[in-house]
Amino acid sequence: MPDSATSATQSVTNTAPIATISSLAAHEGETVTLRGWLYNMRESGKLLFPIFRDGTGTIQGIVPKAAVPPEVFDRVKSLTQESSVIVTGKVRADSRAPSGFELDVEDVEIVHLVPTDAPFPITPKEHGVDFLMEHRHLWVRTPRQSAILRIRATIMRAAQEYFDTNGYVRTDPPILTPAACEGTSTLFELDYFGDPAFLTQSGQLYIESTALALGKVYSFGPTFRAEKSKTRRHLTEFWMIEPEVAFMDLDGLLALAEAFITHIVTRVLELHRADLKVIGRDITKLEAVIAPTTTTTESGAPGLASETWVPAAPRFPRLSYDEAHAMLDQAYKEGKLEAPHKYGDDFGSPDETYISSQFDRPVMIHRYPAAFKAFYMQPDPADLTKALCVDVLAPEGYGEIIGGSQRIDSYELLKSRIEEHNLPLAAFEWYLDLRRYGSVPHSGFGMGIERVVAWLCGLDHVRETIPFARTLNRIYP
Ligand code: 4AD
Ligand code: MG
Repeated sequence: MPDSATSATQSVTNTAPIATISSLAAHEGETVTLRGWLYNMRESGKLLFPIFRDGTGTIQGIVPKAAVPPEVFDRVKSLTQESSVIVTGKVRADSRAPSGFELDVEDVEIVHLVPTDAPFPITPKEHGVDFLMEHRHLWVRTPRQSAILRIRATIMRAAQEYFDTNGYVRTDPPILTPAACEGTSTLFELDYFGDPAFLTQSGQLYIESTALALGKVYSFGPTFRAEKSKTRRHLTEFWMIEPEVAFMDLDGLLALAEAFITHIVTRVLELHRADLKVIGRDITKLEAVIAPTTTTTESGAPGLASETWVPAAPRFPRLSYDEAHAMLDQAYKEGKLEAPHKYGDDFGSPDETYISSQFDRPVMIHRYPAAFKAFYMQPDPADLTKALCVDVLAPEGYGEIIGGSQRIDSYELLKSRIEEHNLPLAAFEWYLDLRRYGSVPHSGFGMGIERVVAWLCGLDHVRETIPFARTLNRIYP
């Protein structure tokens, strides 16, 4: 559809409708105008094969010398990688083409020609990761990176859509905070008019407040952790989406996590088959995640406020910490794990990878020892050394994507936990108020968007999952 804002960049004589590469199916056999950039070009004798990209996909053009005016042929031939162009051509279906179409080019208008003596730095050949990260502002133009960012956007939209259509109210917690939520070791401190303040590690404490006001809430925004180690899974700035629900217990939370993840994977498969193909993702692995289960392992215990339409029988495997430990113990004895897992310790990355490799769906590990978990977690009444918490591990070794718990609802217990963790009581008075006035059992979790992008796109490092990754040693560009 032509629109007035864009007509200025179209030549007067060119009346072909403006289209995008992703929508060419609707224009088969028609002459259209595409606006974009030259991604790459092949030449073979009197034939030019320019590949154009426009942000929605790529398409190969064909320019036979005999079929176009000589100046058009010369103009196409002069194009350098990433020169911006307005291309007119006829859309032709071609089953061999990745997009299903090719473009018989009729005319090309050059908007900006990248000079040959200062070419685009990222060529279609291989580059080292450091070089690419240093040129991230340009790297995002390549088909693979663009596909990842489109999928990221869908993951974020699907996540919000789940909550928006299930009665959750979005409430935005502050980013500047006076105290820690997830432990003091990874806080970014800043000067707040002479007083110390911190960048938020999680919106949780604040949305516990809004959950007691509104019932079902969620927050979605950037969170910060001064992660001082280089890992494939950690960023210092990442996006977290967090639901928090009054009157929900741990069982309700497990059901919610399962339905939520299933919705996101469903949407990505619905909308991004072509992008997943560009990235080289094995789609059958994702299809397995949302496939209906025929056998059930456990009865679907409904939570206090679980979604009414959540499937009655759990589809994702659920293991207690003790069961997961036993699985690792067995694996070690059988020589499938290099190091034994010590009961009482957190799981290491090889442990998590082993556990997730036993299933084709995300696995939910619940009831960890309270000793190494956050101060606000409700103890398990059946074993007070355990916390009513859950970590959801993605399949294929992509690690933890969700962490959550039922929260302590007793004033006395929460106060003593804050003291035991040496947290400043004064900064938590408002949080204790939530237990002074109409306290109820409530639960929530946080899902890291970048971890989910890494998993669904099959990326071995989170640096490619966000437009501009922030890590221990990178804050440029
Ligand atoms: O498990 P975490 O630390 O849980 C919380 O912050 C809770 N307060 C959330 C809640 O209950 N509302 O973090 C939640 C998720 C992790 O499972 C992981 O996906 C992601 O956030 N995450 C990170 N992602 C990228 N880089 C990091 N440094 C991350 N730290 C956590
Ligand atoms: Mg965690």
